[in-house]
Amino acid sequence: MKTPYYVTTPIYYVNGAPHIGHAYTSVAADVMARFKRLDGYDVFFLTGTDEHGQKVEKAARDAGLDPQAFTDQVSADFKAMADAMDISYDDYIRTTEPRHKLSTAELWRRIDKAGDLYLGHYEGWYAVRDEAFYDESELTKKPDGSFVAPSGAPVEWVREPSYFFRLSAFQDRLLQLYEKNPDFIAPTSRRNEVISFVKGGLMDLSISRTTFNWGIPVPDAPGHVMYVWLDALTNYVTGCGFPDPNAPRWKYWPADVHFVGKDIIRFHAVYWPAFLMSAGLPLPRRITSNGWWVVDGEKMSKSLGNVIEPRKLVETFGLDQIRYFLMREKPFGADGSISHQAIISRMNVELANDLGNLAQRSLSMIARNCGGALPPTGPRTEDDTALLDGATALPDLVRVNMERQTFHDALEEVWRVVRAANGYIDRQAPWALNKTDKVRMGHVLRVLADTVRVVATLLQPVMPGSMAKMLDQLGVPADARTIAALATPLSDGTPLPAPQGVFPRYVEPAA
Ligand code: MSP
Repeated sequence: MKTPYYVTTPIYYVNGAPHIGHAYTSVAADVMARFKRLDGYDVFFLTGTDEHGQKVEKAARDAGLDPQAFTDQVSADFKAMADAMDISYDDYIRTTEPRHKLSTAELWRRIDKAGDLYLGHYEGWYAVRDEAFYDESELTKKPDGSFVAPSGAPVEWVREPSYFFRLSAFQDRLLQLYEKNPDFIAPTSRRNEVISFVKGGLMDLSISRTTFNWGIPVPDAPGHVMYVWLDALTNYVTGCGFPDPNAPRWKYWPADVHFVGKDIIRFHAVYWPAFLMSAGLPLPRRITSNGWWVVDGEKMSKSLGNVIEPRKLVETFGLDQIRYFLMREKPFGADGSISHQAIISRMNVELANDLGNLAQRSLSMIARNCGGALPPTGPRTEDDTALLDGATALPDLVRVNMERQTFHDALEEVWRVVRAANGYIDRQAPWALNKTDKVRMGHVLRVLADTVRVVATLLQPVMPGSMAKMLDQLGVPADARTIAALATPLSDGTPLPAPQGVFPRYVEPAA
């Protein structure tokens, strides 16, 4: 039996069109899901949309649409984005679905039963853009006298009857959770930030709203809808069939990893575990948080007009090229800058030159000089062994980095082998051996084919389409493309299809 593994993306607010920041978190979670499948796990991968709350209600009003019609439209856009980015989700959840309303109401009842809810009156600051309450001490005063949240979002003063969650009672339990599970929050900088926030003391959390109604009704409390973050976070258990203990998917809970942006770490690492503790449900194993993309050094925003649409980038540069760039260009947890120049440089240097040429040179020599069939292995020289040992060690090195979501390091490990293989081909010069020692030439080409096989197998999670082509050209059967299958050598003499370049160089179109 395969071990279950559950990975999630944040569910996206449907207040506007998807941009590259959204695509990024989804691609990262997708790489994780695909890697775990490749490594023999039974993976469940959930993504979807967050459709309630004031922010979405306002966007619907601005668009002149009823909120349900509006969310139907924008949710479909996000789904199309996921499909265009080749996100291999197993389910796509929408918080307006009946299954989610049922699940959220049940979570509410359990928290209520545990004695962690009380009715009160909220009076304080709220940022609709963040859907978050802020303490005045967290705000900055602008020259015009208005206040803004740490995220830069405007805040408004809210006064309304509200249910409260006794978050203050969870401080010790949360601190214990972080201490006992050093890997619960990643990267370390975010973990430290969360710990110091919780150590600073927790206030009870307002978890129902009464001044608008686009939300899930609070059970038995007319006029109250649930705070959108309680509603949204619950999607992760809804996806597993909560509250049905016999749901086939319940085996996936608790989640192995929630992928979230750095801006929403507090909701996931503080509120979510507290809600689950109260409801008596198991806690997720890890919250991993990504940094933000800025464009040519500037924050992406509608007003600056520099929002990057994933679809346009993919049209210009190609899907796998963009997936590769996103995973390679910056450390996962850090912020990074996206620019056409940076994408072109990764495409031309690493994909076209390093990897594309390596595969193309090796495969076209096999096609021309070995009758288009995989040459047999032969006695190994020291140089052969050094390269093959590097390739054999690669799956473990990649795995360690995947588990930590240090994707750029995983790719650097792969590229170390790619660069070593390029050094090897130059030293061994199979084109010269073709004139002097054809048998040895065959052995050299086989060492290269075996190395490229390992590389292409491990790169499948990042570049699924291109690596499928590369593995086709190496004659690797469709059922032998897992990490476990690398232990079985390819058969000598396997006929190979005519090789075709997988990564063309990007040439700037003439103006
Ligand atoms: N709806 C909430 C999440 C609820 S999860 C239970 C939300 N939605 S969001 O659409 O605003 O953001 C979703 C994700 O996109 C966040 O993880 C956020 O960090 C990420 N990004 C949005 N802009 C981004 C960049 N410019 N760069 C990288 N990621 C960014 O928050």
